[in-house]
Amino acid sequence: MTPTPFSALGPNAVIGIVGGGQLGRMSAMAAAKLGFKTHILTQDPNGPAAQVSSGITLGAYDDLAVLEQFARAVDVVTFEFENISADGLDCLAQHCPVRPSGAILRTSQDRSVEKTFLTQAGVPIAPWHPVTDHASLQVAAEKLGFPFILKTARDGYDGKGQRRVYTPDALTEAYAALAPRALVAEGMVDFACEISVMVVRGANGTVRCFDPAQNFHRNGILDITVAPAPIAPELTQQAQTLATTIAEKLELIGILGVEMFIDRTGNLLVNEIAPRPHNSGHWTMDACPVDQFDMHIRAVAGLPLPPAQRHADAVMKNLIGPDDMALWPQIIATPTFLPHLYGKAEARRGRKMGHVNLVFPYSGLPGALGIQDALGPLATPDTTEN
Ligand SMILES: Nc1ncnc2c1ncn2[C@@H]1O[C@H](COP(=O)(O)OP(=O)(O)OP(=O)(O)O)[C@@H](O)[C@H]1O
Ligand SMILES: [Mg+2]
Repeated sequence: MTPTPFSALGPNAVIGIVGGGQLGRMSAMAAAKLGFKTHILTQDPNGPAAQVSSGITLGAYDDLAVLEQFARAVDVVTFEFENISADGLDCLAQHCPVRPSGAILRTSQDRSVEKTFLTQAGVPIAPWHPVTDHASLQVAAEKLGFPFILKTARDGYDGKGQRRVYTPDALTEAYAALAPRALVAEGMVDFACEISVMVVRGANGTVRCFDPAQNFHRNGILDITVAPAPIAPELTQQAQTLATTIAEKLELIGILGVEMFIDRTGNLLVNEIAPRPHNSGHWTMDACPVDQFDMHIRAVAGLPLPPAQRHADAVMKNLIGPDDMALWPQIIATPTFLPHLYGKAEARRGRKMGHVNLVFPYSGLPGALGIQDALGPLATPDTTEN
């Protein structure tokens, strides 16, 4: 594979970020450290990213005139938001480099395309079938058996657009809840644990992987990430090799999160990929000299990538509205908590408002009970005990 020619941006260059949420905010803060300006495409002038950026273009992601105006104001475009139309991507790419490329976004936007790509890349995934109507749903149910998971092919996040189907009688209702959108049916993985690897590839082809981290979800939303994942060194190696294969096959420039299951027999199965900084990589902000956002910005700007080193062990706890934010006085008064807030005005239910990192000495991560103890007022005993 020929590496993309190296083309580094100089200080004060402008990095355009499509999307105005917390991933854009933390990317913009990383960009500022390296002397770059950031310009956000968003519909919310007071959103998390707009608050910390030097410029914004206000408008819709599918308005070609808006996209053109945005692209003209920047030197390179990246994303914190994946759901932009194919036409929108083509429009941006006519004006400046888009990193990661539109082709990668198209792959990750659609679970069918993503799973087909992963299989072609030799990456193991759970069994799955595309579902477009009742007949294909029946075929999927027969092939996968029960239970299985029905997911919308596009636009899913935080477990939205998914139904677990436990019995044949539940098929019609699950289908009705998600159709007429294109769907995929996935075999339910009886996983021992969920991990993710953040992989970054530079413009010169250098690939760096952060250590795999273990993820715990609550109500379909990421709750806690523990780094490093307490898994055998061979599994760490395998997970990073899979992530590297994915990055290289996609000719990625930028960062990408790879979510994986480890099944009960110790096999890795990739769940999904996200070509952007990822919630499960937020631990790197306090446990790595160069974190996921720094790495992403370096890659997007064509700069060299230092090793993805970890100098501490870490636990990341998401602050979800409104309950976790009600604990803010205790959070800010706890000296071992390293809080990161996203500047969102309203702590609506289920909304990611910020996160707290806890760091431990290198190789000094406590077990599940010790983690709960360290989390104090933020402990959620139901999650880290499996
Ligand atoms: N095939 C599966 N077998 C078992 N559990 C699954 C399967 N697919 C998804 N899950 C569970 O549901 C969670 C959310 O699924 P998935 O990552 O596909 O959706 P998402 O909406 O994109 O979520 P997110 O935005 O959190 O990444 C997974 O992290 C996992 O805990
Ligand atoms: Mg996911």
